[in-house]
Amino acid sequence: MQQLKNKVAVITGGNSGIGKATAQLFAEEGAQVIITGRRDDVVDQAVADIGHGAIGLVGDVADLAHHQKLADLVKNRFGRLDVYMANAGIINLTTSDKVTPDEYDRHFATNTRGVFFGVQAVAPLIRDGGSIIVTSSLAATKILPDHTVYAGSKAAVAAFARNWAVELKPRKIRVNILSPGPVETAILGKLGVSEADSPAFERHMASLIPVGRMGLPEELARAALFLASEAGSFVNGIELHVDGGMTLA
Ligand SMILES: NC(=O)c1ccc[n+]([C@@H]2O[C@H](COP(=O)([O-])OP(=O)(O)OC[C@H]3O[C@@H](n4cnc5c(N)ncnc54)[C@H](OP(=O)(O)O)[C@@H]3O)[C@@H](O)[C@H]2O)c1
Repeated sequence: MQQLKNKVAVITGGNSGIGKATAQLFAEEGAQVIITGRRDDVVDQAVADIGHGAIGLVGDVADLAHHQKLADLVKNRFGRLDVYMANAGIINLTTSDKVTPDEYDRHFATNTRGVFFGVQAVAPLIRDGGSIIVTSSLAATKILPDHTVYAGSKAAVAAFARNWAVELKPRKIRVNILSPGPVETAILGKLGVSEADSPAFERHMASLIPVGRMGLPEELARAALFLASEAGSFVNGIELHVDGGMTLA
């Protein structure tokens, strides 16, 4: 049986990596999927790859008008939303002494403000009993070198999610946090680590993970499906670490 049959699901940052794998799995599980991302050609390609009538909306989560456009699209086409996954995110690793105000603002505009106002815009459309998933990061709770600003931006959204789980109690909407450890996605090429240092960085990351390797986007997608579907119907306000045990290492 399809686990998201007839559900309407939005995944921000659904044109790549964890978001795209999740959109693919949700669509295979019967959901009408709507993905977002900034690069129109990559959004178009992802829509084609996902199939199942997936819809793409190009926009920047740092732009509040984009969230309203998304809410209008959902309202006009479907009238309601069942699952909202606030997943779009960026990272640039650097020590705190080198963080510029622009770099700080860029992280918080996308990773934090984008999540807050995205949820604010769509919350009225989420049906009672629906599900919100916020993609945070292992970095929000575990100290990793050069992650300070990113970690702060991701810790904030975990706090938002726990508050929403209580705020949305009257509507029985479940709100959970998905916290990936290192996962093999395009984000690894955007860390600010030079191409030459990249293989050593990735080997080092993998060596810190008890299962002995980095995660795959599909493994995060399966965890997101658990949180979005009836399988997770009594799971609310948790932070699900999907990190091969790196929390412990
Ligand atoms: N991979 C990891 O190791 C890892 C670990 C912990 C947490 N995470 C988190 O997991 C989430 C997904 O990351 P990923 O690994 O799948 O990376 P990814 O492949 O780079 O995907 C990031 C997605 O976010 C979108 N995005 C970025 N900035 C955006 C903006 N301002 N507005 C709209 N969309 C935006 C990107 O699309 P465009 O570029 O087209 O905008 C892309 O679809 C992120 O929140 C990330 O912080 C990842």
